Amino acid sequence: MKEIVNINGEILGRDRAVLSIFDRGFLYGDSVYETLRTYDGIPFLQDRHLRRLAASAERITIPLPGSKEIAREIERTCQAAEPGEYLVRVVVTRGEGPIWPAGPAVGLDPSLCKSPSLLVYVIPFPRRIEALQKTGVPVSIVPIRRNPRESLDPSIKSCNQLNNILAVTAASRKAAFEAIMRNPAGYVAEGASSNVFIARGGEIWTPPLAAGILEGITREVILELARDLGITVREQDFLPQDLLDSEECFLTSSLKEVLPVVECDGHPIGSGRPGPLTIRLLEKYREMVRISHPPR
Ligand SMILES: Cc1ncc(COP(=O)(O)O)c(C=O)c1O
Repeated sequence: MKEIVNINGEILGRDRAVLSIFDRGFLYGDSVYETLRTYDGIPFLQDRHLRRLAASAERITIPLPGSKEIAREIERTCQAAEPGEYLVRVVVTRGEGPIWPAGPAVGLDPSLCKSPSLLVYVIPFPRRIEALQKTGVPVSIVPIRRNPRESLDPSIKSCNQLNNILAVTAASRKAAFEAIMRNPAGYVAEGASSNVFIARGGEIWTPPLAAGILEGITREVILELARDLGITVREQDFLPQDLLDSEECFLTSSLKEVLPVVECDGHPIGSGRPGPLTIRLLEKYREMVRISHPPR
């Protein structure tokens, strides 16, 4: 299956999909995005993703097309792709602006840009994740701290990913699958592209939103499912040592669903294999997917 791109309503193959080099999304990372995956060809939890996209755009004052319009473009893009499962990415950039405007304004001033661009692309879903869910993955607690909320609030899902890229670079040097980042106070915050959970004494802990993290949609769902299962969940700060001492650890994201962590910086987590609570939550998540997306 090929990649299909939709730029401002025009559906193109990857080779013909181009955006101006003066687009501020390219120049400054001045853009917001969402990543979804499909089940049976239908994007999962799209309403929640579109609500978060609108919230991110509002925080950085990018005027967004209406949710109905974005939903229509997502549907058109998926329909243009061959049948299958996709990763769907929606990006809204602030659009083009003058680099060196006349008058007192400086080029960074967002008020100089009048027309945002909406991009949607779909690519075949990377199936590798299913194998990793069986074995679990190693992570590394990296020296790069998550951006402070007072600087670039991690709850804004912006395409400015340098903080996360630096973290992933550090994790790759340790051959880790994911970088675990601390917040400026030293508490565990989140992965470079996932939220993090640990299990201790039968309870599930995850950092609170106040730790300065993305309000992950899968995180939210897992909190709901864990409560349904009668598991005590705590949104509370914890330290790297708590993660190392935990009985289980797992990551969540729309693409990874629930991904067991079996090792951190060379230390086994728990038994060194995916733990029972993690497996129960992954099964419960899959059951929820099946119920909300019955095979056609
Ligand atoms: C920094 C960060 N944290 C958490 C997540 C998980 O969010 P979600 O479950 O909404 O996919 C992501 C997803 O890409 C992310 O980039």
